[in-house]
Amino acid sequence: MQPSLSVIILAAGKGTRMQSAKPKVLQTLAGKSLLAHVLDTCHQLTVDETIIVHGFGGEQVKSEITNQYAQSSITWVAQTEQLGTGHAVKVTLSDLPTEGQSLILYGDVPLVSCQTLAALKTANIDGMSMLTLTVDNPFGLGRIKRDQAGNITAIIEQKDADTDEQGIKEINSGIYCVDNALLHKYLPELSNDNAQQEYYLTDIVKMAVADGITIAAIEPEHTFEIEGVNNRQQLASLERTWQSKLVADLQEAGVQFADPTRVDIRGTLTAGQDVFVDVGVVFEGDCTLGDNVYIEAGCIIKNAHIGNACHLKPYCVIDSTEVGAAVDIGPFAHLRPQTVLADNSKVGNFVEIKKSTIGHGSKVNHLSYVGDATVGSGVNVGAGVITCNYDGVNKSQTIIEDNAFIGSNASLVAPVTIGDTATVAAGSVITKDVDAKALAFGRARQTQKNDYQRPTKK
Ligand code: UD1
Ligand code: CA
Repeated sequence: MQPSLSVIILAAGKGTRMQSAKPKVLQTLAGKSLLAHVLDTCHQLTVDETIIVHGFGGEQVKSEITNQYAQSSITWVAQTEQLGTGHAVKVTLSDLPTEGQSLILYGDVPLVSCQTLAALKTANIDGMSMLTLTVDNPFGLGRIKRDQAGNITAIIEQKDADTDEQGIKEINSGIYCVDNALLHKYLPELSNDNAQQEYYLTDIVKMAVADGITIAAIEPEHTFEIEGVNNRQQLASLERTWQSKLVADLQEAGVQFADPTRVDIRGTLTAGQDVFVDVGVVFEGDCTLGDNVYIEAGCIIKNAHIGNACHLKPYCVIDSTEVGAAVDIGPFAHLRPQTVLADNSKVGNFVEIKKSTIGHGSKVNHLSYVGDATVGSGVNVGAGVITCNYDGVNKSQTIIEDNAFIGSNASLVAPVTIGDTATVAAGSVITKDVDAKALAFGRARQTQKNDYQRPTKK
């Protein structure tokens, strides 16, 4: 049987340098809080228990994360005074099993990958493994001390390091996998007899070495995996790093970006081959694009599925919409949640569609509002047509059957049905159902006064 795996996420730091009323771990990277990044990564592993150590703004962190992760059980442990990383883990001991092992992670180190964490767990053979990295500028970080045989003997913090130790370039990421038995044994023994008068978690390394334990060390595949966020500059820089990684992965899958630095992916984007994405496009949530999708500048696409060979002209806002194949959208179209556009349909400029289905080959080309409507196939919705779906209290449905033709500037007062192949005259206000194949007028008949004299000034 696999030993049980706990995850301990330290998130009690105040994050003073963010200059924010919001706790640091709730700041967002790629549209998601730092802490949610860590939790989502853990969910890709088989984790038996997740413990979050919270402190500053703890209630806010707890309520936001509990809402977001209603399905998962998280153990919240308060660390009321931030006495150091060792103290932060120590306060979890009463909630930590005495057997099994724990991954120790940080709420402000968002991009560690599940592959790295799995490798770290595998590397823990003798009781403790850690993630280290050799860097050009190790300043400020804990240094890894090794003996002549190359075995890790201790971690020395910057402020406690002598000149020789400061020259060491292998640094401690702060991420470990440790047997729970060792945490239970060592943490109560930590002292704060050091330059910062903190209880250092790093001291468990020399305690384990004294017990004859060999500490395993592995390196992450990417440097960004161990980068923490302490200020807005670091947050912005990590955001850019992450965006270029996401873009590079999509380029490998066959997506062409007009400028890889001028696109944002705040969530997951899956794309087919020969997709083109122009500058200033933002993807949010879960989006999928088929093959040969062409997206022009400034589109904002959220939780949408766009079929093969669709063409999104500039500045469309698309939210929670299903788009079939070969659909033309925009420029300046607004597709709101629960919209479905069938294959070969067309939605033109300044058109808003909400909670509606537009059938195969149908067109809503100019300046329309279509809400709570079911539009069949082969329908033409003329310029300026409005579905009047709201009486101030209730929303009502409009049904437009196949091959109907709705003249320009018609108002369809819902609930109303326009029959198959029916025609609505331009400018009509339609309040009653229109039969199949009929022509409906709902407007004043045009009259004329011949030889009309315009008024003259008195
Ligand atoms: C720690 C490591 C250092 C490592 C570095 C990597 C120690 C003693 N040092 O240093 O070797 O190179 O991380 O970034 O562990 N936290 C709490 N409660 C506390 C103290 C910290 O929850 O009482 C949390 C913070 O919110 C933060 C994390 O632990 O997320 C790290 O704390 P921080 O003070 O940044 O540790 P460092 O001194 O940078
Ligand atoms: Ca730090």
